[in-house]
Amino acid sequence: MNARTQAHVEGMRSAGRAVRAAFEEMVSACEPGITTAALDRVGAAVLAEHGARSAPQLYYDFPGATCISVNEEAAHGIPGEREIREGDMVNIDVSANLNGFVADMGQSFVVGHASAEQARLCAAVREAVEKAIKKVRSGRPLNVIGATVQQVADREGYVIVQNLGSHGVGRSIHEEPSYVPFDNPSERRVLERGMVLTIEPFFSTGPEWVHEEDDGWTLSVPEGQMVAQFEHTLIVTDAGAVVVTQ
Ligand code: CO
Ligand code: CO
Repeated sequence: MNARTQAHVEGMRSAGRAVRAAFEEMVSACEPGITTAALDRVGAAVLAEHGARSAPQLYYDFPGATCISVNEEAAHGIPGEREIREGDMVNIDVSANLNGFVADMGQSFVVGHASAEQARLCAAVREAVEKAIKKVRSGRPLNVIGATVQQVADREGYVIVQNLGSHGVGRSIHEEPSYVPFDNPSERRVLERGMVLTIEPFFSTGPEWVHEEDDGWTLSVPEGQMVAQFEHTLIVTDAGAVVVTQ
């Protein structure tokens, strides 16, 4: 969407607060032994308290209120009977529509003690998003995002997954511009004032692609590989990015 008015900005901020609150409650509840279905119920309850509707359910009939992806799963993991274990890397991605405004955020983190490689991967993808956010300003090339993300991936020796995109958001969950956040010289689009979009790279320890599991939803890397995501929703302004999901 294009957030042109203060009411648009406030609407996006409210939607951002709802998804952030659901995410935080889920992280607090994410302890060894809990099932991903139980975690999802925690998130669903918070969204309901805010009067927000799960975007994956609303737009895709996803079988869960939130996406919970564990270890080699990158995205769109279905909440179910899988129990979280100490040392699991978990990605929780929450998106929701509140009063017609849609915000989207996600983060990978480790339950309990993280290995050095898990910690470095999660920190790298977060750093990439935070650095890219600082480069956002209306009139700049969209590719400043991918170029910045790529610098961090290259420095740390990680691969940016090529078939998981970042996207416009705001009125629906997936809008234009749809893009993969890597340094793409053929990317000619420009960041426009009021543009609402996500930055959500997925860094892996090798694979450039995720594959779909037999459940028709879950996107994974091969066993033995690791993948992590970090995502915010932001509004492009002349003064920089207004991040609505922090
Ligand atoms: Co997204
Ligand atoms: Co998301």
